[in-house]
Amino acid sequence: MKKILLIVSGGIAAYRALDLIREIKRRGDDVTCVLTKSATQFVQPLSFGALSQNKVYMDLFDLESETNIGHIKLSRDADLIVLAPATANILAKMSYGVSDSLATSILLANNKPLLIAPSMNVKMWNNPATKENIEKLKSYGHIFVGPDEGEMACGEVGSGKMSKVEDIYKEIELLLSPGPLKGKKALVTSGPTIEPIDPVRFISNRSSGKQGHAIADRLSKLGADTHLITGPVNIPYPENVLVTEVNTAEEMLNACKESIPVDISIFAAAVSDWKASEISKNKIKKSINNQNDDEMVLTMMQNPDILKTISETNTNRPKLVVGFTLETENLIKSARSKMLNKSCDWMIANSHVQENQSVFNNDMNEVSFLTNNSEENWGLISKQCVAENLCNKIIKFFDSAA
Ligand code: C5P
Repeated sequence: MKKILLIVSGGIAAYRALDLIREIKRRGDDVTCVLTKSATQFVQPLSFGALSQNKVYMDLFDLESETNIGHIKLSRDADLIVLAPATANILAKMSYGVSDSLATSILLANNKPLLIAPSMNVKMWNNPATKENIEKLKSYGHIFVGPDEGEMACGEVGSGKMSKVEDIYKEIELLLSPGPLKGKKALVTSGPTIEPIDPVRFISNRSSGKQGHAIADRLSKLGADTHLITGPVNIPYPENVLVTEVNTAEEMLNACKESIPVDISIFAAAVSDWKASEISKNKIKKSINNQNDDEMVLTMMQNPDILKTISETNTNRPKLVVGFTLETENLIKSARSKMLNKSCDWMIANSHVQENQSVFNNDMNEVSFLTNNSEENWGLISKQCVAENLCNKIIKFFDSAA
C-alpha cells in the first residue's frame, strides 16, 4: 500500500479531487488530504475526511500537528505528493518559494516526487507569467499532467481544465511503480564539448545541456539506470543519475565507450566537429609571425563522431541509438541522411535557429521525431515535454520488443 498526500488548492475543479480520492482508495492505496483555505470555499473538508478515512489538514498552526512539525512530517510520511487541482496562484507561489500556508509549506519542504494537475481559466494558463512559472517548476523535476482543453466553468473554451481523474491516476501509477524502464541501462550525452587551442583558449558552442539533462532526468524517473556524460554546463544535474563530466569530444567518446553496454543511448550533446590539430603549449601570441599580423591561421582536424562510433561498434551496440541534429537548411532531408550515415535508429531534428529564438539555452524546442519509416512534428514544446515524448516512445519500443 502506497501513501499519497493530496493537496487541493482553491479552484472549481476541487470537487473532482473527491473522485481522485475514490480512485486512489479503490486501488488500495492510502490518501491524506491537505486543503488550502480557498479550497474550503469550494468543497467541504468533511467530504475529504469521509472519503479518505483520514484526518484532513488545513491549518499550518494546527497545534496537534505542528508539535510534530506537521508540514515536514506529512511529506516525509508520503510516497508521492499530488497537487490537484493546482491553481495559477499556488503555482506562482511555488515558483517563488512562498510558504504562507500549510499547503505551500509542505510543497516547499517536500522531498518526494510531486505530480501537479493544473486547473485554471484559459487566459490564466496562457499568461506568460504562468508559463514561466510552469517551466521553472518543470525544471525542478516536478511532473505535470494536463491541463485538458474544453469548456471552462466560466464559459470560456480552451486549455486549462484539470485532467480526467483516470489520466491523473495513470501518472500516479507510473510514479509509484518501480518504473517501466526499471532494469534498463541508459546513456545520455549532453552539453557542448570544448576543444582547447592553447592553455587559455578553446572552441566550443552555445549548447546549454538543458535538453540532454531533461532526458536523463526523465529516464531516471522512469526507472532506468542512467549515466549522463556532459560537457561543461551551468545547469544543475538531475538527481539519481550518474554524471561524468568531460571537456573534449575525445573524452566524451572514451566515457561513452566505458559506459556501454547499455540498452538505451541518446546523443544530445553538441559535439564540436573540429579540434585544433595541435594544442599550443603556450598562449598563442597576438603577433605570430612578423609577416601578416592581421590574419591568424588555425589548422583544425575532425573530431571522432561519438554517435557513429557507438552505433557502429561490433560489440555491445546499444539496443536503441538516438541522435539529435540541428540544421539551418533542409532539416528533414539532412536529418534522414545523417540517420543513415551514422547508423542510428531514431533522429530528433531541431528546427532551425531563428534570430532571437535560438534553441540553445532556450527552455522550448521545436523538433521532428524521425524513424526509418515515419516522421512526427511535435511542435513548439518545452524541453521537458520533448524528453517525456521521447521516453514514451522508448517505453513503447521496449514493450513491443518484449
Ligand atoms: O553535429 P551533427 O548534426 O552531425 O550531430 C548529429 C548527432 O551526432 C548528434 O546526436 C550529436 O550528439 C552526434 N555527434 C557525435 N559526435 C560528433 C558530432 C556529432 O556524437 N563528433
